[in-house]
Amino acid sequence: MSKSVQVEVVLSNSERLPVVDVWLVIDVLRASTVIVSWFAAGGEELYPAESVNSARLLAEQLRREGKNPILMGEQNAIAPQGFDLGNSPLEITTELVRKNSCAVIATTNGTVAMLKAASTGAPVLIASARNARASLFAALSRGRRIGILCSGRKGRPAWDDTLCAGLLAARLSEQFPDVHLADSARLALLAWAGAKDFKSSLASADHAIFLEKIGFGDDVAFAGEIDAARVVPELYELPDGDGMRAVLKLAADKPYLPDNLSPLSRDSGAGVSVAGAPAFGAENVFFAGARYKKLHKGKLRYKRGA
Ligand code: MLT
Repeated sequence: MSKSVQVEVVLSNSERLPVVDVWLVIDVLRASTVIVSWFAAGGEELYPAESVNSARLLAEQLRREGKNPILMGEQNAIAPQGFDLGNSPLEITTELVRKNSCAVIATTNGTVAMLKAASTGAPVLIASARNARASLFAALSRGRRIGILCSGRKGRPAWDDTLCAGLLAARLSEQFPDVHLADSARLALLAWAGAKDFKSSLASADHAIFLEKIGFGDDVAFAGEIDAARVVPELYELPDGDGMRAVLKLAADKPYLPDNLSPLSRDSGAGVSVAGAPAFGAENVFFAGARYKKLHKGKLRYKRGA
């Protein structure tokens, strides 16, 4: 059964996307960290939009459909006018998501990258340093050609996302000695291997320095806590008139555990156990019941601008 794992890293969302079996989309600072925090706090669904304007339009449409979404996201790292929330993971509380189970999110790079990955038709999972382990397990259950899409910064590579991609590539290399790392994955691995300390290296990224300057330094520290969350958000598609609409929910299936899998918890001691799968330690990665069609075998034909 065991086929070698292949890892592709795309360093920014302006690059052409290779064919893979599954996408792990990263925007450590801060979109994917926020999205993971939303579901870790018990959030139910999040609608990613590619711009502030399309987020407003989508929220209106969802209200017409009887939902009551809040609007969250950023422009230049702060909340756009009329939005309920900005893009700080520290604003996400269990009380907030209990009151508001549905939200629309638009960010400069992260949500754009997620929708770009979705347009390939391959499953899309949301990864960050906080759910690094859980996201790798979910990805391995969907195939062997793993694509790691770094959102980057305005179409350019970003140190924070590349570092996190390096962390994921390092874990897969540890796990699968016969792993094939594409050149881009080796670059990311170099970034990770060269970082003595993940948190301080993350804080040296251009966007981290900018966030620190405008008062969001705590967000950077929070984003740097590896394996602090065990949720894996996944992009699903909903029929929407003649098109499809993308929605983020918790991933929903049993992961595939390769024969030669040894615990990935050597370094952190946080284990993984999934229904029907061998247990590695006490805690669980959280998966929910599948109510929505997964992004499989069909391109996501979501309606632009709605
Ligand atoms: C982005 O998508 O560009 C980031 O999430 C921006 C931010 O939150 O600062």
